[in-house]
This record gives sequence, structure tokens and C-alpha cells, in this order.
Amino acid sequence: MQYSGIKDKVAIVTGAGEGIGYAIAGLLVKAGAKVVLNDIDKNRVNTVVAHLNEQSPASCVSFHGDAGDVPTINKMVDFTLDHFGSLDFVIPNAGITLFGDFLEFTPDSFQKVVRLNLQGAFFLAQRAAKEMIKQSTGGRIVLMSSQVGIRAYHNLTAYGMTKAALQFMGQNLAYGLGQYQITVNTIAPGATLTERTAKEQPDYAGFWGRLNPNNRVGKPEDIANTCLFLLSDEASHINGQLIPVDGGWTTAGKYPEDL
Ligand SMILES: NC(=O)c1ccc[n+]([C@@H]2O[C@H](COP(=O)([O-])OP(=O)(O)OC[C@H]3O[C@@H](n4cnc5c(N)ncnc54)[C@H](O)[C@@H]3O)[C@@H](O)[C@H]2O)c1
Repeated sequence: MQYSGIKDKVAIVTGAGEGIGYAIAGLLVKAGAKVVLNDIDKNRVNTVVAHLNEQSPASCVSFHGDAGDVPTINKMVDFTLDHFGSLDFVIPNAGITLFGDFLEFTPDSFQKVVRLNLQGAFFLAQRAAKEMIKQSTGGRIVLMSSQVGIRAYHNLTAYGMTKAALQFMGQNLAYGLGQYQITVNTIAPGATLTERTAKEQPDYAGFWGRLNPNNRVGKPEDIANTCLFLLSDEASHINGQLIPVDGGWTTAGKYPEDL
């Protein structure tokens, strides 16, 4: 299906050098949007931007930097406005997953998780909303939560807290920004096979595929397709919602007899 309202719109996607963020940027470019791809890994983001520009010339640019850092966020938005002239969509996708036993979790690890997952999303959404209000043409903000912001998982307390908080941030922003025709929705991906998760766990796809009611693991495109819909005109009346894209894990984890 081809959605309307995507072509020629300008988007920022953070953490877009690989995984879910890259899949979102790729779909946006394919649909005719202009995209600023941010990543902390300079080579990675430059490589994927060159690749996407081969497919669709001058469709995207890279912005290298830490998406949790507020001065960097402001520079990224300024750069986007200078380069493409407006800002319509923002997807603060970059997030850090730090595993650790609650009893041993350090203040340093806690700060790292909160800084990127919450501070980064909060201040990018804030700056973007200011620009969207000035433009008076509405806008879209899609936050990236997680299935473990809905359902507890071992050794992910701090991460899960930030992901649950993003959902509430989305509800609050939707309430405040709806009057400007800006929608704010939150996606909660389930276990999704990316370059990172493949490294984290041997047979990631087999392990999570068994636990999901639909017997498969998520693909970055599953999340990207949902995001594209939420950015489109067709989704203009969906606001403040949490959309799990998780194969059913948060609805019905498997029962003993299923395993
Ligand atoms: N993959 C999953 O199974 C899964 C499940 C639920 C939620 N999520 C969430 O979805 C989002 C994307 O997940 P993913 O697995 O594709 O990501 P990932 O960990 O693979 O990272 C994607 C990119 O983000 C970049 N990045 C890391 N720190 C950054 C920073 N400070 N600033 C800018 N870029 C940075 C990395 O260099 C990488 O290229 C995250 O917010 C994650 O929490 C992922």
C-alpha cells in the first residue's frame, strides 16, 4: 500500500545507521521523503546514506553525533532546517539496552540509559515540536518504546523504566500538541532481529521465535512499516497511542504446555 503525505516531507531518524532506524529511513526514502539519518557511528551512517542516495539521489544526509546530547540535538535540527528547509517528522529511535542485575546496577549505567532513551527523545521531540508549531503545517512524532516497557523482563529494570516512560511521554505530548495537528504515537517493538540483537544472543531468532505466539521473531521492516503508517495522512486521527509490534508477546506469553 502506498500511503499519502510522506513524499517530500522532511524527517529526522536517530540511531539510523543500522537496525530499526535504518529500516525506517529506508522506507521513508523509498516513499519520497527527505531524511536526516543520525548515528553515533560516523562511518556506519555515512555508508548507509551513500547507499540510499544511490537508490534515490539527494534524498538523505547524515548527521553524526550523540542523540542523547542536547546541544547535539539542537545542532541536528538546525542542520536539517538549513539543508532541507523544514521539519515534518521526527523519530527519536536511538536507544541503549544495558542489561544488569537490579542489586548491582550502577549509577553510571543508570545515567547512560536515561540520558539516551529519555533525555534524547524528550529534547528532540521538544525542539522539533517548536519548529513544527512555527511552520503551522502539523507534524508527526513517533517514539520508540519496547515490549519490556509493557511487561517486565529480567535484568532490564532501568531500560524497561525508560521505555514505559516513553509511552507516558507520548500520551502527554499528544494531549498538548494535538491542537497544532501534531500527532505523537509510540511503537513498542518486540524482540526484533537486528545486527545488535543477533550478537547479543546465540540463535536470537530461534529463541524469541519460540516464545512469540506467532512463532517468529520481528524484522526491522515490521517496525518500519508501522512507523510509516503512523507518519502518513491515513493515520492523522491516531494520537497518543502505544502500538506494540511484537508478534503477540505482551498479549499472551506462551504457557508451559506451549513450550
Ligand atoms: N531490536 C530489538 O529487539 C528492540 C526491541 C524493542 C525496542 N527496541 C528499540 O528500538 C530502537 C532501535 O533498536 P535497534 O536494535 O535497531 O538499535 P541498535 O542498538 O542496533 O542501534 C541502532 C543504531 O543506533 C546507534 N546509536 C547507539 N547509540 C547512539 C547514540 N547515543 N546516538 C546516536 N546513535 C546511536 C548505533 O550506532 C546503531 O547504528 C531502540 O530504541 C531500542 O531500544 C529494539
